Amino acid sequence: MDLKASIRAIPDHPKPGIVFRDLTTLMGNPEAFAHTCGAMAEAFKSRGVTHVAGIEARGFIFGAAVADRLGCAFVPVRKAGKLPSETLRRSYALEYGEDTLEIHKDALPAGAKVLLLDDLLATGGTARATAELIREAGGEVLSAAFVVELEGLPGRAKLEELSLDVWSLTQFKED
Ligand code: PRP
Ligand code: MG
Repeated sequence: MDLKASIRAIPDHPKPGIVFRDLTTLMGNPEAFAHTCGAMAEAFKSRGVTHVAGIEARGFIFGAAVADRLGCAFVPVRKAGKLPSETLRRSYALEYGEDTLEIHKDALPAGAKVLLLDDLLATGGTARATAELIREAGGEVLSAAFVVELEGLPGRAKLEELSLDVWSLTQFKED
């Protein structure tokens, strides 16, 4: 299956010189979406994953489907102010300003083996903050998995600095 062909490229979005990789076209293609979620579940089915942690918002779409295929729990990592019970929180840098993610303090039992999952790895700030949250909540991050990895950006290195295993289904070379 040519997964890359199902991902729309939007030149000069959100600003000149950036090619935006639009996964809504992959989600809108049932074969491509099933292939994506199936391949991610297949890659981790023998790793003893107990929880998939998906990152709001786009990580929810793939994360929930992969958790269902693995027969394991799904844990939402949410933008600040959305989770109703006690949370742990981490802020991370965006190009302009910062954003904050939260996880429920009691989301993970002792011994939880967590697959961190998001749609896309770019600078790595989002996934790094999430990995730190999972660890603080007492989980082991088995791997950080992405549908798309933008190579040429520091995302992978930023995660490997934390001794995280980084896995991606497809890669695009970006400047
Ligand atoms: C996008 C994308 C990843 C993140 C990757 O999310 O879905 O989560 O950016 O960027 P990074 O590796 O540079 O941190 P965004 O924050 O735009 O929000 P959304 O998922 O809610 O659309
Ligand atoms: Mg996101």
